Amino acid sequence: MKDRQDYYYWKAKKEGYRSRAAYKLKQINAKFEIIKKGYHVLDLGASPGGWSQVAVELGADVVAVDLNPMKPIEGVVFIKGDITKEETKEEIRKIRDKFDVVLCDASPKITGKWDLDHFLSMELAKAAFDIAKEFLKPGGNFVVKLFQGAELEEVVREFKKYFRFKKLHAPPASRKRSAEIYFIGKGFGGKFRPKRD
Ligand SMILES: C[S@@+](CC[C@H](N)C(=O)[O-])C[C@H]1O[C@@H](n2cnc3c(N)ncnc32)[C@H](O)[C@@H]1O
Repeated sequence: MKDRQDYYYWKAKKEGYRSRAAYKLKQINAKFEIIKKGYHVLDLGASPGGWSQVAVELGADVVAVDLNPMKPIEGVVFIKGDITKEETKEEIRKIRDKFDVVLCDASPKITGKWDLDHFLSMELAKAAFDIAKEFLKPGGNFVVKLFQGAELEEVVREFKKYFRFKKLHAPPASRKRSAEIYFIGKGFGGKFRPKRD
């Protein structure tokens, strides 16, 4: 079957990216200008490293975190850790305490039970947001993967309060039938204050 999934899979192989997911970040960045040359980027749920490769290509310095190991990439410092754990934040702090961009493409192990996968994805996204709140510079950018479902609206409502520009976006490289969608937040905190309920 020759669908988009195959297309990006083979394109990644041919062009030397470790994942088809690399094209999602390329497309998101082309549309929203998340990463620029010289930026410090924190990549959560980074393995096998496609997003980190793209960030380095764009001229960023990267700190990457994942439960799974990741083969080295020049320009990337890797932390093997769980983004829901306090000790992982401690490891990040040892390297750098502020970033221009926080990315999170972390996914739970898919069970196929839609509600459970959604719930686990929300837990990861909330953990990523906690990290973003601590580590983003004022004006910084945040991209996080979410699986659609009952809790999404409430979680996104909370995220939105903290950014000047906010949008939900599914890049063309996301599989057509996928439940995934990305929250894009630009212009963190800084001059404007997070809105109260
Ligand atoms: C879809 S992959 C990321 C692909 C990556 N963006 C790329 O382009 O290569 C999702 C990753 O999230 C990681 N992950 C899931 N739960 C995590 C957690 N609690 N802490 C850290 N990483 C986690 C998984 O180990 C997996 O490597």
